[in-house]
Amino acid sequence: MTPETLELLMHRDAWITENALREYYAEDEDLKTLLDAERYSLFAGGKRIRPMLTLEFCKLFGGEEETALPFACAVEMIHTYSLIHDDLPCMDNDDLRRGKPTNHKVFGEATALLAGDALLTGAFEAAASNTAAGAEISAKAVAYLASCAGRYGMAGGQMMDLEGEKRTLTLDELIKLHSLKTGALISAACVLGALAANVSFSDPRMQDVITYAENIGLAFQIVDDMLDQVGSAETLGKNVGVDAAHQKTTFLSFYTPQEAKFYAERLTQTAVSALRNHPNSDALCALAEWLMNRTK
Ligand code: IPE
Ligand code: IPE
Ligand code: MG
Ligand code: MG
Ligand code: MG
Repeated sequence: MTPETLELLMHRDAWITENALREYYAEDEDLKTLLDAERYSLFAGGKRIRPMLTLEFCKLFGGEEETALPFACAVEMIHTYSLIHDDLPCMDNDDLRRGKPTNHKVFGEATALLAGDALLTGAFEAAASNTAAGAEISAKAVAYLASCAGRYGMAGGQMMDLEGEKRTLTLDELIKLHSLKTGALISAACVLGALAANVSFSDPRMQDVITYAENIGLAFQIVDDMLDQVGSAETLGKNVGVDAAHQKTTFLSFYTPQEAKFYAERLTQTAVSALRNHPNSDALCALAEWLMNRTK
């Protein structure tokens, strides 16, 4: 797949996702502040990588897009909530996200907290109400999504991340941290796409989905750590140097940028190898490479 074709597909999937996301936001005058705060971050222009993974895994296994879309929206809502909370003064204390002032800078901390809460719970409402998928698949998707977002997933990883400010973690701890705080939700995105195409957990294809997801997930956070050190705030839409300012343990605590890049490349190759033999996996293979070389 050419870079141009991949870019077109990324735009197309982002557009489809954004249209679907808007459907969840019926106007309510009394709740205008909360709705505005949620929508401010949700439609601020994220890359929409996770919903794309959900849509493309569903497509890879012959599923219908309308079945994957509520799951894609749910994952993007949880991701957006995690960013709002990640930026709060009690967490990374960031003032720039997706090229705009962070949620709490515009709406205040209490509203930002609630916007995150509403996005998190809204995600489960969207996933559980996926009538196209049916009750059985939706229940499995909700359970998997919850496990990836919670204690043994993103929230647990964020806790380890904060602990990594107070002491230098070991490399094994850091790999676990990255796999939880970032890898888990990326796994949810991929697995929910496969579930939407009726691929069950006992299907051998699901193991390939998980191998791909775990490897791009870890690579994604390694690249994020690198971009925090060598990237540009203008391109990234978020501040750089945040990890160093918080004395966080990151991949650059153990490796030079060149070594970290090599590590991410190896993980990407493993991810691509897991999918290569599946027909029509070009888009997902090209996406894995794009993610490794990204500058934003
Ligand atoms: C940023 O995720 C947070 C991490 C998990 C590293 P993205 O880089 O996908 O952020 P958006 O959605 O494009 O803003
Ligand atoms: C955050 O990691 C991952 C989340 C679960 C939100 P970072 O703190 O490194 O993400 P950025 O760099 O602020 O996007
Ligand atoms: Mg953080
Ligand atoms: Mg942060
Ligand atoms: Mg970061």
